[in-house]
Amino acid sequence: MNIRKERETDISNVYSINASAFATQEEANLVNALRDNVEGVISLVATDGDDIVGHIMFSPVTIAGSADSKLYGLAPMAVDPKFQNRGIGSLLVKAGLEECKSQNISAVFVLGHPDYYPRFGFQPSSRFGIKSEYDVPDDVFMALELEAGVLDNISGVVEYNEVFGNL
Ligand SMILES: CC(C)(COP(=O)(O)OP(=O)(O)OC[C@H]1O[C@@H](n2cnc3c(N)ncnc32)[C@H](O)[C@@H]1OP(=O)(O)O)[C@@H](O)C(=O)NCCC(=O)NCCS
Repeated sequence: MNIRKERETDISNVYSINASAFATQEEANLVNALRDNVEGVISLVATDGDDIVGHIMFSPVTIAGSADSKLYGLAPMAVDPKFQNRGIGSLLVKAGLEECKSQNISAVFVLGHPDYYPRFGFQPSSRFGIKSEYDVPDDVFMALELEAGVLDNISGVVEYNEVFGNL
């Protein structure tokens, strides 16, 4: 198992992984839209030999008044259903967060399973006075500081790129 940056030749396989892991093709289309329209997207794949078995994407988000800090959202991520529950998702999250750190990203947000992301250090973003732009339960919108204390001085609503709203 290996985690590496997505290459152009991976694009159709990444689409298939997302389409197979989620109930609809919305997330697979979102991945293409983010890659095509948003600068600074981070896209990593998990490979098993020549096969792509998982994918994770991060893209810039904003909070009004926090332009000095580089903030990203983790979304979406997917592991081929045949390969789930073997730790591949965890490898993708950890490698993705390392890549975010190396790009001086200060904090990452995720809207997702509240039993899954806390194991990587994510906490409900409400602890920092930060909310999702979507009307979701408190515990599913989470934040992780990559730069200690950065969220002490930031509060408000996390806004995702508009392509999220178009899908
Ligand atoms: C979520 C996902 C990426 C995890 O990938 P994975 O390779 O199976 O993850 P890991 O093997 O590292 O971890 C498995 C853990 O994830 C948990 N998990 C998977 N789906 C979950 C869900 N819907 N809710 C809560 N936990 C979930 C499993 O219960 C397991 O927990 P355990 O370690 O306590 O037993 C994968 O299940 C997937 O692609 N799901 C469909 C798409 C999706 O929901 N993406 C995430 C959007 S937030």
